[in-house]
Amino acid sequence: MAEDAVPDPMTLHPVAGRPRVVLLKPLIISPLIEVGEFSYYDDPEFADEFETRNVLHHYGPDRLIIGKFCAFAAGTTFIMNGANHRMSGVSTFPFPIMGGAWASHIDLVTDLPSRGDTVIGNDVWIGGNATIMPGVHIGHGAIVSTASVVTKNVPDYAIVGGNPATHLKDRYTHDDIQSLLRTAWWNWPIELITDNIRSIASGTVHDLEQIAPTAPRWKIQPVNRFRVACCPAGRSSSAGRMRIARVNRSARS
Ligand SMILES: CC(C)(COP(=O)(O)OP(=O)(O)OC[C@H]1O[C@@H](n2cnc3c(N)ncnc32)[C@H](O)[C@@H]1OP(=O)(O)O)[C@@H](O)C(=O)NCCC(=O)NCCS
Repeated sequence: MAEDAVPDPMTLHPVAGRPRVVLLKPLIISPLIEVGEFSYYDDPEFADEFETRNVLHHYGPDRLIIGKFCAFAAGTTFIMNGANHRMSGVSTFPFPIMGGAWASHIDLVTDLPSRGDTVIGNDVWIGGNATIMPGVHIGHGAIVSTASVVTKNVPDYAIVGGNPATHLKDRYTHDDIQSLLRTAWWNWPIELITDNIRSIASGTVHDLEQIAPTAPRWKIQPVNRFRVACCPAGRSSSAGRMRIARVNRSARS
């Protein structure tokens, strides 16, 4: 890749000589999984098998929705709703899946309560061997510590850890978090991100506030807190967490 080129979010293995890093957007096939650009999984052995080894019991209709710029360490596991057995009776044993005369009772395993979609925000870092339980929502900028089992929603920019994961600390003050959510750097045009990598990775909240309004010809509008991709105005996308509406200057003047 040329030194001044912007990395391509559709490159399966973006790190030269390290196939253990896989970008999820070009990898994912399942229509039940939605993932934003540049989110990656790192695994020395089975990186390319994320969909089958790390997203478990995923039969739908619940969906796994992952934002942009997320980093998932080896052993990150998403347990989906299909993992749960019936608990309303005496036995939790899933008799119908054994087939034969028991198969006619299949509704006993298909009609189970669901906790809904699992939703991972943008810029979420999940440490090694962490497990995310069904229906959990993890906020933007959150960190999940190594080997955690996340059973409850995680607020934006929180750090959680343990089994069950508890809130360890917040990365920013309430006001700063509100500012970061408004700024939503992950939805900036890729050129703006490219020009400001250092500020995003090591600058302050104030630095990002200063950069955001300079986005030329783009107006950033929150559309739906748990939607992931962005798209130019006028084109709808079920994957659109934030819509970046291109402002037609001549139309405005
Ligand atoms: C979450 C993490 C970033 C916190 O780092 P930190 O800000 O330096 O925090 P500290 O080490 O000071 O720990 C803060 C508290 O969290 C606790 N903690 C840290 N990791 C924890 C874990 N995995 N489970 C439970 N508690 C944890 C610490 O015991 C400490 O508790 P205390 O305040 O009661 O003393 C780090 O612990 C971590 O898990 N990193 C992930 C590493 C990883 O898995 N990388 C994979 C490759 S990307």
